[in-house]
Amino acid sequence: MKPPPTYAIMREMIETNLASKLKDGLPAELVGFMQTAGELAAGRGQSLYLVGGMVRDLLLGKPNLDLDLVVEGDAVELARELAGLKAARITTHPRFRTAKLTWASFSVDFTSARSESYARPGALPTVEPGSLESDLFRRDFTINAMAVSLDASRYGALIDHYGGQSDLEQRLIRVLHERSFVDDATRIWRGLRYEQRLDFHLEEATLNWLKRDIPRLDTISGDRLRYELECVFREAQPEKTLCRADELGVLTKLHPALAADGWLVDRFRLARRLSLPHPPSFALYLALLAYRLSGEECGELTSSLKLSKPVARIVRDTATLKAKIKTLSYPEIKPSYVYRLLHGLSPSAIVAGSIATASPVARQRMESYLHKLRYVKPALNGSDLIGVGITPGPRVKELLERLREARLNGKAVSRQDEEVLLKEWLSETT
Ligand code: CTP
Repeated sequence: MKPPPTYAIMREMIETNLASKLKDGLPAELVGFMQTAGELAAGRGQSLYLVGGMVRDLLLGKPNLDLDLVVEGDAVELARELAGLKAARITTHPRFRTAKLTWASFSVDFTSARSESYARPGALPTVEPGSLESDLFRRDFTINAMAVSLDASRYGALIDHYGGQSDLEQRLIRVLHERSFVDDATRIWRGLRYEQRLDFHLEEATLNWLKRDIPRLDTISGDRLRYELECVFREAQPEKTLCRADELGVLTKLHPALAADGWLVDRFRLARRLSLPHPPSFALYLALLAYRLSGEECGELTSSLKLSKPVARIVRDTATLKAKIKTLSYPEIKPSYVYRLLHGLSPSAIVAGSIATASPVARQRMESYLHKLRYVKPALNGSDLIGVGITPGPRVKELLERLREARLNGKAVSRQDEEVLLKEWLSETT
């Protein structure tokens, strides 16, 4: 008698079909779109596949609406035909043979199947037309290197040349080959991100190659590293990836003084609570990550990550604010002094400071500035002052500032109070 087939062999015999998962997991509009796209592609003698993260998430039963379609053939022409049919907006990159369609709240990426080679480690790849198999082989991890056929004859069939489904079941992050991190060291960050997001493990050889190739992060441009950090901060719990990155010596590749520890975990959690119902911004997370750096180190991080001017300002202001925390925690300071200390600093930096500080008094003052003090204005304005005979110029500005201080310190609560004070001040000077 023949032995019963093992599970692995049985899996090869029974093709996994995801048609019902597609139907149950996606809006009908997208399912209909994929079917139409598959038929149109077939009419052009092309094959069309759903690839990447969406396939992974379908198998995991996690929501994902990012459709990535790969065409064996020219994706741009197919996308154009579909754009006409759906009255969708289309953007194309003929040089890369890619296109993006957007309509209603949907967006779909089209790529022509391609193979990639790397001129030097860390460089962007040289791209050539290829088969689905070579397209999947150029990808980062087995769990991201699966496809689903959208051809009518095989609609929903899972194509899994590299063992992605089995790795999903074993909760493993595995590269497809030994040089994966050499080709593209940003995959180091991606690997940590998936590991922590999905609560998986880096497979043993993958972990060893990852550790071996950490120095290659030095070959990655600031723009690409910043993008990876943006992706980390978009995770539900970015601190998990940062702690893992710290443990493996990846975080210090961004800056040697960075650390992800219990302090950071608590700050990130608090940032999320305070930002509800939205997630914290990239700048807020970054300001917290950079909080314990010196001003000079913040400057180094800002330039190495090529931060935009507004984000760089928030990081810089957070460092400036840190130097004022001691003063902000003195027991007897007036609201007008709090205003003067904080005025001109970016509100996001003050939010970061209020989350980061260990002083409850300083925190309470920063919150009071953010919610109240910064909006305090005198009822009288420049024209009112000129109307009572003050010569236009710096004197007007100075008196308006004094009126604001009076308001801040509770010395004036109405327009009438301000008029009385103004009279007093003017009589003192005459
Ligand atoms: N990819 C890759 N190497 C990279 C970036 C992307 O191989 N450095 C491939 C992976 O197959 C990935 C796909 O391109 O699945 C799409 O990339 P991206 O949108 O960044 O990833 P998703 O898998 O969609 O993951 P996420 O859930 O984080 O969006």
